[in-house]
Amino acid sequence: MISPEVIEEIKERCDIESIVSSYVTLKRAGSNLNGLCPFHSEKTPSFTVFPIASNFYCFGCGAGGDVITFIMKIEGLDYPGALEFLAKRAGIPLDLNGQGSNEGKRRARILSMNREAGRFFHKQLYEKAGIAGHTYLTQKRGLSDAVIKHFGLGFAPNDFGALTSYLSSLGYTRQEMTEGFLCGISRKTDKPYDYFRNRVIFPIIDVAGNLIAFGGRVMDDSTPKYLNTSDTPAFKKSKNLFALNFAKKRGAEHMILCEGYMDVIALHAAGFDNAVATLGTAITPEQARLLKRYTKKVFIAYDSDAAGQRAAERAFRLLAEVGVETKLLKMKGAKDPDEYLRKFGDVRFKNLMEEGKSRFDFTFDNVLARYDLQNSEDRIAAAKEMTNVLSGIVSGVERDVYTHKVADHLKLPFEALQRDVDRLMRKNRSETKKSEMRTIVRKTEGYQDRVNPDYIKNVKAAKAEEGVLGILLQFPELIPAAQKLLSCDDFCTEYGRIVYEALQQFYIDGKLEIGRLNEVLTEEQMGRVMRMKVARDGLLNNETVLHECANTLKMAKNKKEMDIYEIIDAKRRKQND
Ligand code: GTP
Ligand code: MN
Repeated sequence: MISPEVIEEIKERCDIESIVSSYVTLKRAGSNLNGLCPFHSEKTPSFTVFPIASNFYCFGCGAGGDVITFIMKIEGLDYPGALEFLAKRAGIPLDLNGQGSNEGKRRARILSMNREAGRFFHKQLYEKAGIAGHTYLTQKRGLSDAVIKHFGLGFAPNDFGALTSYLSSLGYTRQEMTEGFLCGISRKTDKPYDYFRNRVIFPIIDVAGNLIAFGGRVMDDSTPKYLNTSDTPAFKKSKNLFALNFAKKRGAEHMILCEGYMDVIALHAAGFDNAVATLGTAITPEQARLLKRYTKKVFIAYDSDAAGQRAAERAFRLLAEVGVETKLLKMKGAKDPDEYLRKFGDVRFKNLMEEGKSRFDFTFDNVLARYDLQNSEDRIAAAKEMTNVLSGIVSGVERDVYTHKVADHLKLPFEALQRDVDRLMRKNRSETKKSEMRTIVRKTEGYQDRVNPDYIKNVKAAKAEEGVLGILLQFPELIPAAQKLLSCDDFCTEYGRIVYEALQQFYIDGKLEIGRLNEVLTEEQMGRVMRMKVARDGLLNNETVLHECANTLKMAKNKKEMDIYEIIDAKRRKQND
């Protein structure tokens, strides 16, 4: 275990404001800071950092905790892993006596193994075994040696044991090699064999400079065309983007989002060094948030075939959800950016960006393509679809401009179309309101309360309990006083009991080591701890109030717990209020 003193030092040196700032753009709001939550998609900031208390809380999704919780969540690490991560960042040497977090160690081993593998693949390009790869990249794909070096491209020889024997000689075990997705185990011989064979290799590097994965492409038409690293302890494909390590340095005004590695490489080679690509899958919400961290505007440069255009639809939607402006590039006469550049050159590509299509135009064109505008029924059907789209546009000015556009194209009176749009908007608004109300009712009554499912059973006692815990979180020095008033068994919810127990456990030498609550609580439970603490901000918190809460808790708890029928009745009564 890492000693509490070292944990304190780590937390002192890693101030929450600067750590969080490297992931989230924060704006000052009084003594706190606000930003868009990195843990759920939102357009208005409900993520708050409290520098004085050294913690964060998202009023939208309930995530919360200290700097360690933050790193656990955002980097996907366990508690010791997050400590190591922060210690490294703060330059604090950790003497782990070989007892560092297992996960962290496995990760570090895979990363160093990947570095060796990457170097190995790269070297092959300039040796006899790799001539075919070098010829393919330079002759067939037109890449210069400078570009090959810049991206660290490589070649996996046509050999079942080249890489595995090399890595074994460096001391990597077969377990590490299989876990890192570099080799498989032969069922017949029980021996490891190379996964990547006779393929050109694209190393994938994350924003921290770790070589996290590889993509390998065949040099002919055989299948599968690409072999990509699956998720490993050091890699999650849904959370990374190819070439973001280069693109992010630009402090980019905009970025170009592609489908293929080769597209990105061709774009960088042509001077567009803000191009990135997803890793062989459709864009994920995590990747959209990742892009949002680095840029305001994204040009979608997907393949011009039907699949690419469908994927563009999704990219438009996910990027809009995180508040990134988007434009779609229409590459006529080429299937993808790589081919477009080769056929028409960088100047034309630049023009393409100036002519980028908005999400609206993209949708409208797709609708227009499906109907025959000479036919009245078709025009009505097209108008109906577009009414739907128009009613979803939030900005009045934008909506007006586009409504005119649709009316013109469909040869319909503007006023009629506008009336339909207004009507639909009113209808949608009242429906959202109703469904929002329903959610609020459900939530306040504790249905859906995954963290504290007992809450609903005795709301009065549960509230008192949150009061007690909130006060103790604000003023840990009251913990000894609380111990005289309440035992763990006095708590009415299992969750409250666990937290109370943890508060006592980590109240050491007159100080609460709040970060160590992570050792016994889940992330969600930790989030709720922060909520209880934040809820007491601005309220009176002293020993008298603590007594009051404790008494309420005891009294309310002694009342019989409600059974499910009483809960249903209580819910009905509340709805009728
Ligand atoms: P080129 O054909 O060499 O120009 O490749 P590309 O990079 O343009 O790839 P393409 O547009 O065909 O596919 C886009 C991305 O999808 C690739 O970069 C890969 O990440 C992924 N991909 C393509 N084919 C396969 C496949 O067969 N298997 C897997 N796992 N991924 C693939
Ligand atoms: Mn291509």
